[in-house]
Formats: sequence, C-alpha cells, structure tokens
Amino acid sequence: MAVRNRVEVMHGVNLSELGRRDPEHYGGLTYPELEVQVGNIGSELGLTLRFMQTNHEGEFVEHLHKLEGLTDGIVLNPGAWTHYAWSIHDALELTGLPAVEVHLSDIHAREEWRGVSVIRDLCLASIAGKGVEGYREGLQALREHLEAS
Ligand code: DQA
Repeated sequence: MAVRNRVEVMHGVNLSELGRRDPEHYGGLTYPELEVQVGNIGSELGLTLRFMQTNHEGEFVEHLHKLEGLTDGIVLNPGAWTHYAWSIHDALELTGLPAVEVHLSDIHAREEWRGVSVIRDLCLASIAGKGVEGYREGLQALREHLEAS
C-alpha cells in the first residue's frame, strides 16, 4: 500500500502578519519563518508538507474543495475564522480527510469568543497555546492516525 504521508498545512486570516502581531500570544516568528520551522518538523517526522495561507475565506474554502486525492491529512489554523466560519466547517467536512486544528495562542485563556471552535468536532486533535511546538504535536497525531488506518 502507498505510504500516506502528505499533509496540507493551511493558515487563514491574519496569520500572514505574524511577526507584527502581539508577541505575547503569537511569539516573534514571521509567517515565512513559521513555514520553515513547521517544514523542518514535518521532515523530522517523515511527512511531506505543503503550505498555503490566505486572507480570503472563499479561497480557503475553495482550496479545501480541491484537496481530494492531493493529500492524506490536513493541519489547519484558520485564525479568527475558527470562531465563526461555518463555511470552513462545511468545506472541511466535505474533504472527508483527517484533520488537526492548531493555534499558536491559548484560545481558551483569552476572550470568551475565542473559546469557540466551529471545526473542533471535525478534528482528531485540537492543540492551542503551545506555539510552534503545537504543530509538532498536531503532525504527530496525524501521522499516528495515518499509520493506524
Ligand atoms: C489563532 C487564534 C485566533 O483566535 C486568532 O484570531 C488568530 C490566530 C492562533 O493561532 O492562536 O488569528 O488562530
């Protein structure tokens, strides 16, 4: 059977601006630096990662529409869309792919509205507040799932 090790790493709104967002919540990395670090983690884990980031909800949704056959799993950090964008919930559900939600900051220890995640029920793990290390945890969870299924 073919190795299932392809992971799509998707970032949503305002993550492009990392590096000039509140370092207390997001650390000091820029988005390109985050991609490099997460990419290195992926290589360590033997995964082939592909990255995308957009500030346009429709683009994020259409990207999900087109994933069939192109990847084995998804790590996603949709930014603020996490808390209200049911369009992303529905598009993620449509992929039928295993997914993990990762947030740099601890969404449960901030404003009340950030505690809501509309994609939580579709994700096999939801990781928040661990910075870049959260991506390692998410990718590991996905890898274990892919190995077991
Ligand atoms: C975030 C948390 C969201 O609440 C916020 O809107 C973001 C980033 C995180 O990675 O901690 O843009 O998803």
